[in-house]
Amino acid sequence: MSRTMVAGNWKMNTTPRQGHALVRDVLEKLGTPPTRVVFGVPEIQLMAVHEQLTDHPGYAVAAQNMHQEPRGAYTGEVSAEMLADAGVAYVILGHSERREYAGEDDDLINRKIVAAIAAGLKPIYCCGEKLAIREAGNQEVVVGKQVEQALGSLSPEQIREVVIAYEPVWAIGTGVTASSEQAQQMHDYLRRMIGNQFGSEIADNITILYGGSVKPDNAAELFAQPDVDGGLVGGASLDAQSFAAIVRAL
Ligand code: PGA
Repeated sequence: MSRTMVAGNWKMNTTPRQGHALVRDVLEKLGTPPTRVVFGVPEIQLMAVHEQLTDHPGYAVAAQNMHQEPRGAYTGEVSAEMLADAGVAYVILGHSERREYAGEDDDLINRKIVAAIAAGLKPIYCCGEKLAIREAGNQEVVVGKQVEQALGSLSPEQIREVVIAYEPVWAIGTGVTASSEQAQQMHDYLRRMIGNQFGSEIADNITILYGGSVKPDNAAELFAQPDVDGGLVGGASLDAQSFAAIVRAL
């Protein structure tokens, strides 16, 4: 399968009705997409969007979070098995907003990744450095440590299910994108890291997305980098025209 994909991360935006209209508009604009297209939608819309995508090959739905335990007394939480049974294919894990606002760290994210894969979901694992780390030139050390903690314990069979999203925190929702050189450098570093642990066949096939202010006017240059396999798109995924343009850029 091709490495490429574009995933939208709607975050806590759109009501179910608005979400339905957004998916309808994207389907209208893109038809059968030239690459995998994933909608990361609010939990309450997962089943409806999954249903809306029936008979539309190339599209899939992603959750934005899940609990690490399979079931039990965890009021308000949702398990991997529930998501899989509802037709969800992917789950975004370790997004910087969950690290920041829900206190998630890479040990917890590792447990979520393992639980997701066990239930048949594909985790989209997010990593990335904050601005001060970038300014000090320590991004490879810090992101490397995140990836080591979150993915280092996985087996080769498990890592094959994982999509990595490199999202420098300073680029998320700020309008400041990493330059294509900065993105390529980190993606190359991550792919080499995966290669060192899991071998080149797995490293060559793992999908590594870039996220952080991807827009129609910068997508093509980012996606042209040899190790940038697509994007995890926040703000621009809420507008059908922008999102479709980003998919076409890939
Ligand atoms: P952004 O968000 O595209 O709005 O910067 C990206 C993300 O948080 O995944």
